[in-house]
Amino acid sequence: MSPLPEPQAVTAPLSTAALVLVGVVPEDPAACTTVRELCADLPGLVRSVGFREPAAELSCVIGFGAEVWPRLFGAPAPAELHPFTALDGVHSAPSTPGDVFLHLRATRPDLCFELATQVLARLGEALRPEVEVQGFRYFDNRDLLGFVDGTENPTGPAVARAALVPEGEHAGGSYAIVQKYLHDLPAWNALDAAAQERVIGRRKLDNVEIDDADLPTSAHRLLTTVTGPDGEELQIVRDNMPFGSPAAGEFGTLFLGYAADPAVTETMLRNMFLGDPPGNHDRILDFSRAVTGGLFFAPSVPALEALADSAPAVSTPDTPAAPGSDLGIGSLRP
Ligand code: HEM
Repeated sequence: MSPLPEPQAVTAPLSTAALVLVGVVPEDPAACTTVRELCADLPGLVRSVGFREPAAELSCVIGFGAEVWPRLFGAPAPAELHPFTALDGVHSAPSTPGDVFLHLRATRPDLCFELATQVLARLGEALRPEVEVQGFRYFDNRDLLGFVDGTENPTGPAVARAALVPEGEHAGGSYAIVQKYLHDLPAWNALDAAAQERVIGRRKLDNVEIDDADLPTSAHRLLTTVTGPDGEELQIVRDNMPFGSPAAGEFGTLFLGYAADPAVTETMLRNMFLGDPPGNHDRILDFSRAVTGGLFFAPSVPALEALADSAPAVSTPDTPAAPGSDLGIGSLRP
């Protein structure tokens, strides 16, 4: 198999600081032009901010939602990109507005902050921010429920296998599902540690996995373990970050899952919200409410460069619009 095009920083390790932005691009061709210009300028901006403190390992991933893709790039969206599917089960996972997703990571929050400031200044009115989460590392990679989060993430070559599209036109890209969860910490902390451990499926203090036989089938660890047709485990790469405001009583987890195929993450979500079997839902959700939800595609570096140079062709009576486009947008220009 030929080597993958260089991915964006999707496979970068968990960082100590992260800033996630999700925004909406207004229905205005000038806004789309500004976003495409940002795509071209982004690597330079990351270098400008990152080079001031190379040890902080600043990185940035940009992704796009299904509805804005044809408007921005004049080409059909990648096959598996669609608006986030809202779920209404025992608990609800909403689908919320979002065209552009930015995931900034560094070992220091100031670099993420500076880059986000510069990116938003560049975009101006071309992006209406809907979600901003400034995440931080909490002790030994714990979430605000107090459990170590990220242990069973793939490592080594399995990271790319889980996160990157392996072949075809969009090879090297990644599907990102992003949700903001708010925790009811008083209710969660009213459970004793043993009850919390049965919800998660691991021991709280030392992070050791509890045997499946000793867990209810609703344990988070069990409902999010999904397998393929041959029984092989299907993985995603999670970059969850705690965030919050003690003064506002806000305690949250930003869930961010990169996948080669969003159907894997979506299966996990269905198991959690609708239950597996139906009704056997994830008890994390009795204490954690999903308040946003979006699905985005982060193209490879060369694909992003090509998209930045592209512009939707305006259709005329002689040049009909591309199939699937209701915006009169033609195919990708070289
Ligand atoms: C409130 C939000 C969430 C919290 C606080 C949370 C927390 C945790 C914790 C503490 C673990 C155990 C340690 C680990 O392996 O990372 C875990 C495992 C896992 N979570 Fe979550 N999680 C959340 C949402 C989600 C969502 C939305 C998904 C997928 C759509 C997901 C997928 C997984 C997977 C795949 C594992 C590893 C299971 C295994 O193989 O053992 N999580 N999560």
